[in-house]
Amino acid sequence: MEMEMGDIHLYIVLFIPVVLSGIFIMSLNKRKLQRTPKLPPGSMGWPYIGETFQLYSQDPNVFFSTKQRRYGEIFKTNILGCPCVMLTSPEAAKFVLVTQAHLFKPTYPRCKERLIGPSAIFYHQGDYHMRLRKLVQGCLSPEAIRKIVPNIEATAISALESWSGGHIVNTYDEMKKFAFDIGILTIFGPLDTYYKEELKKNYLIVDKGYNSFPSYIPGTTYKNAILARKRLSEILSEIISQRKEKRREEKDLLGCLMNSKDEKGQILTDDQISDNIIGVLFAARDTTASVLTWILKYLHDDPKLLEAVKAEQKAIYKQNAEGSIPLTWAQTREMSLTYKVILESMRMASIISFTFREAVADVEYNGYLIPKGWKVMPLFRNIHHNPDFFPDPHKFDPSRFEVAPKPNTFLPFGNGVHACPGNEVAKLEMLIVVHHLATKFRWGVEKSRSGIQYGPFPVPQHGFPARFWKEPCSQIQHEVA
Ligand code: HEM
Repeated sequence: MEMEMGDIHLYIVLFIPVVLSGIFIMSLNKRKLQRTPKLPPGSMGWPYIGETFQLYSQDPNVFFSTKQRRYGEIFKTNILGCPCVMLTSPEAAKFVLVTQAHLFKPTYPRCKERLIGPSAIFYHQGDYHMRLRKLVQGCLSPEAIRKIVPNIEATAISALESWSGGHIVNTYDEMKKFAFDIGILTIFGPLDTYYKEELKKNYLIVDKGYNSFPSYIPGTTYKNAILARKRLSEILSEIISQRKEKRREEKDLLGCLMNSKDEKGQILTDDQISDNIIGVLFAARDTTASVLTWILKYLHDDPKLLEAVKAEQKAIYKQNAEGSIPLTWAQTREMSLTYKVILESMRMASIISFTFREAVADVEYNGYLIPKGWKVMPLFRNIHHNPDFFPDPHKFDPSRFEVAPKPNTFLPFGNGVHACPGNEVAKLEMLIVVHHLATKFRWGVEKSRSGIQYGPFPVPQHGFPARFWKEPCSQIQHEVA
C-alpha cells in the first residue's frame, strides 16, 4: 500500500523525535559507561589460588617490583583467594591510610586474631580504636618514656655483657630477647621475675603457633598456642588483681589501661586489657629486633661508617666519665649520625614491606575502581626503594637523611590512624644499644652473607651469627638501678 503525503508527514513528526531521543539516551549511557571506573591493570592468576605461588616462590619483593615495572603504581592480583589491589605511590598510601582511612578497615585472618586477642587495638576502627590509641600513644610518648632511659640502659648493658666472650651468638634471637624485655618494661615497669618468666614462656608458645596451620587437634602447634594464650590471660588477670589490691596508680601502660574510663564511666575489662598487652608485646618484639639486627650488619659491612658512629658515641661516653654516669634522654637526642643510621636501616631493610586493609565500599582512586571487600596493600618497600624519592636506593647511605624525605615517602612506622604508637620507644632502644655497642664492644662474623631470611620479617641469613668481644679500654662499668 502506498503512503499518502500526509502519512509521511505524520510519520516524520512521530518517528524522528523517537529516534533522536533514542540516540540521545544511548549517548548518555555511553558517557555514563565511560565514566564508570575500571579495575586496575594486572592479572588475577589461576582460579582460587590466584598468584599465590608467584608471590611465595621467590622473594616477595621481586614479585612486587616486577608487577610495578609492568603495570605502574596501581595493579590488581589475587593472593590466597583474596582479590587485592596493590599500591606503590606515596599519594596512594596517603589516600588509603590517612585521607580516606574510614573507607579501608584493618583486616587480619581470624586464626591470628584469636591468638593475639580480638580486642587488641590493630583490629579496630572508630571510637574504641580512638580510645585505645590515646591511651597507648600517651604511655609511649617521649614525655612518658624518657623516665625509663636508665632501665633500658641497664637491660642493654646486661644483654651485651652476656653476648661477649667470643662465642657465636645468634644476633636476631638475642635481639628478640632484649626487645621482649623492653616491651615488658614499657607495659609493667619493673615486674616480678616469676611473672616475667611465665609471660615469656607462654608468649614463645603463642609466637610459634602464630604462623602455623590453624588446627584445633590437641598436640598441634596452633592448639598449643591457643592453650598458652589462655594461660597468658590468667597470668595477666592475676597481675591486674594484685595491682587493684595495692590501689596504687602506676603510670606504665598497664596502669593507663586499668585507669581509663570512657565518657560513660566504663572501664576496660580484663580481657580487653590482656588483648592489648599481648598486642603491644607482639608489635614491639620482632620488629625492633629485626631492625637492630640489620643495624649491626650494615655497620659491620661499612668499617668507615662504624668508625664515625664510634666517634660520635665515644664523645658522649667521655662526657659521662667513661660510662660511670648514666646516659640521659637529652644525650640520646644528640646522636645525630646514629639516628640517621637507624633511619637508613629502616629504609633499606623495610622490615614491614607492606600493610593490609579491606575496602568497606566501592572506592574510586585515580580513575580506577577498588571494589568493596577487596584487600588493599600499600607497598612501603617499593616507595622506600623508588629512585625518584631515594636516589641510588640500594646503597646504604645515612647522609640521605640530612634532608627530610618528601611527604609520605618514608613510612617505616606506617601513617595515619594506625601508625605505630611505639616508634619513639623503638628508636630509643636502638640508640641506647648502639651507644653501648659502639663504645665498649667489637663484633665480627664468620663470613658476612648477603642472603635474607623471612621469619616473617626479613632478617640477615641465619639471624646474623656473630661473635662479640669487650674492648680492653672499656672495662669501667656503671651500675644502673
Ligand atoms: C622498629 C620497630 C617497629 C616498627 C618498624 C613498627 C612498625 C609498625 C607499623 C608499620 C605499624 C602500622 C601497621 C599498619 O598500619 O597496618 C605499627 C603499628 C603498631 N605498632 Fe609498631 N613498629 C615497631 C615497634 C613498635 C613498638 C616498640 C611498639 C610498642 C612498644 C609498637 C606498637 C605498635 C602498635 C600497638 C601498633 C598498632 C597501632 C594501631 O593499630 O592503632 N610498635 N607498627
